Amino acid sequence: MSEPNKISSHEITDPKVYFNRRAFIQTGILAASAVATGLVYRKLNHPAAGKIKTARLEGVISAATDTSNGFHVAEAQTSFQDITHYNNFYEFTTDKEGVAAASANFQTKGWQVSVEGLVRKPKIFDLDDILKISAPEERVYRMRCVEGWSMVIPWAGFSLSKLLDVVEPTSDAKFVAFETLLDSTRMPGQRSDVLNWPYIEGLRLDEAMHPLTLLASGIYGNSLPPQDGAPIRLVTPWKYGFKGIKSIVKIKLVATQPRTTWNEAAPNEYGFYANVNPQVDHPRWSQATEQRIGESGRRTTLMFNGYAEQVGHLYAGMDLRKNF
Ligand code: MTE
Repeated sequence: MSEPNKISSHEITDPKVYFNRRAFIQTGILAASAVATGLVYRKLNHPAAGKIKTARLEGVISAATDTSNGFHVAEAQTSFQDITHYNNFYEFTTDKEGVAAASANFQTKGWQVSVEGLVRKPKIFDLDDILKISAPEERVYRMRCVEGWSMVIPWAGFSLSKLLDVVEPTSDAKFVAFETLLDSTRMPGQRSDVLNWPYIEGLRLDEAMHPLTLLASGIYGNSLPPQDGAPIRLVTPWKYGFKGIKSIVKIKLVATQPRTTWNEAAPNEYGFYANVNPQVDHPRWSQATEQRIGESGRRTTLMFNGYAEQVGHLYAGMDLRKNF
């Protein structure tokens, strides 16, 4: 992810190079310390140091291996090590390999999520009460980051629709707005102005109610580690990864399209919809192919990330170049 407006750098085309340089320039001391943290992390990262504090999730139901509903992609799953050591989570650091170390002590005790707005039964949920709404199902999803890398992740969670059903959206609710925790003592990256905080995202109500839209609380049958969005995050596998907002504290049903963090940072680069689309390039790079983490060579990116059969109807008649 990178933000183009503050410094012009059209001379650099590789998004990774561009991104690293920009992040460094923009965040100054934060980036410098992130680089340092990254180096320390790499030094420490012999197998024994790779231990991550997560708990086994109770009662995870394996998804059927039936692939027709999109719940289980029959492709090699990305290793736990890669899923947990190559992250985007700017609240901790912009260094993807440094997020694990920078977030290792993130405290989620007493976590609550407020579900509010245009609903009949608004409620501030304790995390445990959310997790009790439905048993976690394993969903093996193909994930595609807007920067061009991809993974296959065995999430645990349940459809967001089950939570929304509990609060009963009114007929005026047309969109859902999400918010990450705002607390720079626990999320030190929020002391930098690399993004506007808190991180915010949004979906149209029909997208939010789609069965593929997952409220995830785990990976590989264990609770989410901090770097992947503990204790609860959104996963929309047909959209670019930045839609998958982490560490959610607020879900608000609203009447009009909500503001979103990356769209505000760079409106011509990151749209509200952000559906994976190999035919609509990012202004600074092609989206036709992707690097699957752990593989050599590039793969062809699939329309809606391979979920066209399940979600294509949501966008019937829409101009996907305009609504990117
Ligand atoms: N959520 C918050 N709160 N902050 C972030 O920086 N990064 C997004 C998304 N959710 C981000 C976030 C981006 S750009 C991506 S690609 C995914 O998280 C990465 O998720 P992962 O690290 O679990 O693979």
